[in-house]
Amino acid sequence: MRVAVTRKIPERGLELLRTFGEVVVWPEQLPPNREQLVEFARGADGLLSLLTEPVDAELLEQLPTVRVVSNFAVGFDNIDVAACSARGVAVCTTPDVLTDTTADFAFALLLASARRVVESANAVPRGDWKTWEPLGYLGLDVAGATLGVVGMGRIGAAMAKRATGFGMRILYSDAIVRTDAERELGAERVDLETLLRSSDFISLHVPLTPETTGMIGAKQLAMMKPNAVLVNTSRGPVVDNEALADALEKGTIWGAALDVTNPEPLPANHRLVSLPNCIVTPHVASATEETRANMSELAAKNLIAVLQGEPPLRCLNPEVLHG
Ligand code: GLV
Repeated sequence: MRVAVTRKIPERGLELLRTFGEVVVWPEQLPPNREQLVEFARGADGLLSLLTEPVDAELLEQLPTVRVVSNFAVGFDNIDVAACSARGVAVCTTPDVLTDTTADFAFALLLASARRVVESANAVPRGDWKTWEPLGYLGLDVAGATLGVVGMGRIGAAMAKRATGFGMRILYSDAIVRTDAERELGAERVDLETLLRSSDFISLHVPLTPETTGMIGAKQLAMMKPNAVLVNTSRGPVVDNEALADALEKGTIWGAALDVTNPEPLPANHRLVSLPNCIVTPHVASATEETRANMSELAAKNLIAVLQGEPPLRCLNPEVLHG
C-alpha cells in the first residue's frame, strides 16, 4: 500500500502509517499546488490531506488509485464529499480529539479581546508603559456577560462549558434543539437575530457550507451591540471581512478575534490586521503538541482502516465502504 501525506504531521501518525505501507510525505513548508500534488501522490492508495488541499472531482480523476481521503482536520470544506462518494472514495476526518483544545483557544481569544491583552502587551516592548493608568487599556467584563454560540456542536458546547465557569448567560441559535446544552449548560435557544442583538460575545462554531458562507455580514454586524466582541474559530468565509473591518473601524462593535480568515493567510497589510480592536491569529486553535499528535493518529487510523476493509473511526460517507 502507498500513502501520500500532504505535509509533515506529528510522528505518531506517520509511525502507524509506516507500519502499514510505503509513506511519502510532502517535505515543503508550503502546501503542494495541484500539479505538484498530482505528481507527488501518483499511485497512492490513500491520501492524508490537510485543509489547505482542495480535493475535488478533477483531482480524483488524476489520482484514480486513491481509495480514501483522510483529512487532518475536523472541518472538511476543502473536500467535495459528493465527488468522493461518486467515485467510491471514503472521506475521513478528525473530530473529538481537538474539541477541548479548540474551545480553549476560542475562549482565550474572547478574553484577549475583552481585556485588550495583545494591545497592552505590545505596548511594553515599544516603551509605551509610562505609569499605572486609571484610564489605560480599559476593557470589558467577561464574568456575568452573555455569550452567543452560533453552532452548538461539539466545539460550541465546549466553549459554552467554559463560559459557565465565568457565570455567563449562554444563548444559541441552532436550527435544532440541543437538549444536552440546554440541560447541562443552561443554554437558551433563540433566533440568530435575537442572539446577535442580545450577546456581549458572539462565538462562531458552524461548519463552512453554502448556507453559512457570509452569514455574518454588514446586516448582522449592525444588529450587534456596540460592546459586542466577535470570535471566529470556525472558517473565515463565514464572516464578510470588509463588513467586519468597517464595523471595527467605525466602532459599531467593540472588537473581534479571528483565528480563521478569508483568505488564509490574510495578507499582513490587510485592514483587519492593523486595527487595534482586532486580533488575528494564524489558524492555530487546535495547535497543541498532544492534540496535533492525536489528530495524526486518528487520521492515520482512519486511513489504514479503510484500506484494510475495516470500518474507520470517523467516516463522512460510510456508504462507500460497503459498495
Ligand atoms: C481546523 O480548522 C480543523 O478543521 O480541524
